[in-house]
Amino acid sequence: MQNLDVQTHRGDRRCVCCLVFACPRFSFCLVTIQAISWSSSGAVRIIDQRALPEAEITRDLESAESVAEAIRQLQVRGAPLIGIAAAMGLVAGTREQRGAPRAGFLARVNDLAALLGAARPTAVNLRWALERMLRVAEGTPGEGTDLWERLRGEATAIWEEDRAMCRRIGEHGLTILADGAKVLTHCNTGALATGGIGTALAPVYLAHEQGRKVHVYVDETRPLLQGSRLTMWELVHAGISCTLITDSSAAALMRQAKIDVVMVGADRICANGDFANKIGTYGLAVLARHHGVPFYCAAPWSTVDVSLADGDLIPIEQRSPAEVTVMAGRPIAPEGVTALNPAFDVTPARYVTGFVTDRGIVQPPFSEGEGEGGESLQ
Ligand code: MRU
Repeated sequence: MQNLDVQTHRGDRRCVCCLVFACPRFSFCLVTIQAISWSSSGAVRIIDQRALPEAEITRDLESAESVAEAIRQLQVRGAPLIGIAAAMGLVAGTREQRGAPRAGFLARVNDLAALLGAARPTAVNLRWALERMLRVAEGTPGEGTDLWERLRGEATAIWEEDRAMCRRIGEHGLTILADGAKVLTHCNTGALATGGIGTALAPVYLAHEQGRKVHVYVDETRPLLQGSRLTMWELVHAGISCTLITDSSAAALMRQAKIDVVMVGADRICANGDFANKIGTYGLAVLARHHGVPFYCAAPWSTVDVSLADGDLIPIEQRSPAEVTVMAGRPIAPEGVTALNPAFDVTPARYVTGFVTDRGIVQPPFSEGEGEGGESLQ
């Protein structure tokens, strides 16, 4: 079941976070964008990202099933955020069972974790968060109530840790952004994709906060337009100088020396540094190498999957061809044509100048111990 709170765009200059969260500040205030939170009844409250920028809609997801559906539909999206949403969904979805004996409660938690984990295959953060929740459930003594309370604390901790990791990614990434830097980014890696200020956008937000001039070129990111709909929404309301471009303009801009650095996020980073990110990322990496533009991947350690040796092993989500052939409800290709729609591609590690993480700017290989491997460049 989903509860709705809808406010459509009014075309005035008030910040969107004011509309969504009744923020008392008139100008944009970054920290008030909360892509996710608990509702007062313990449901998972999200901003429906499929509706942006046309409408700001918050939804209260009451069950694990509705959280899984929201993840599949990309109402809630971005690698770190879907991990947080799944952990919170597990808690919201077991509220009614918390009076159950231990064995029954654990069985339900395992079933719901399997359901949530299957919602999207590529971002490892989903599996990472759910495995952490299951370890905590198994390791907590007592009955359903004790386990549920502990799970609620753990889901909140996953969210809070992500917020802190975003900030640290931003601080490390600041060293890359000189005053006046022109940054090219892809998809959405900001506050809407995480529990905090984002990953690849975090250094941009901190540079802006410190008064540095920075200009962001934003790929529209076909087919679902996370760049134009979400990244531009965030940047415009933060007052950060930005220009929307078609995905196919990136090459020409690099040739004209208009880009100083490319910054992207990741959905899964393998032990050898190959990483999956939104389709189109690989092309940008090759272009950046050709034009001598530094190319950085920013992500928290929850995105590193040392169990996979290289990028060929990453499961790539294939989405509906209708996302390519239909736009805003109208056909943009002849009826019945074949279309491919891989949601992600893999960028080989050799194209990456550095991985901007919460533990510093590092180079592969990455090893066991959540980031204890990896050589820091700083
Ligand atoms: O399909 P999406 O919108 O979930 O894809 C998101 C991305 O590819 C992001 O770049 C990635 O998850 C990093 S978000 C901090």
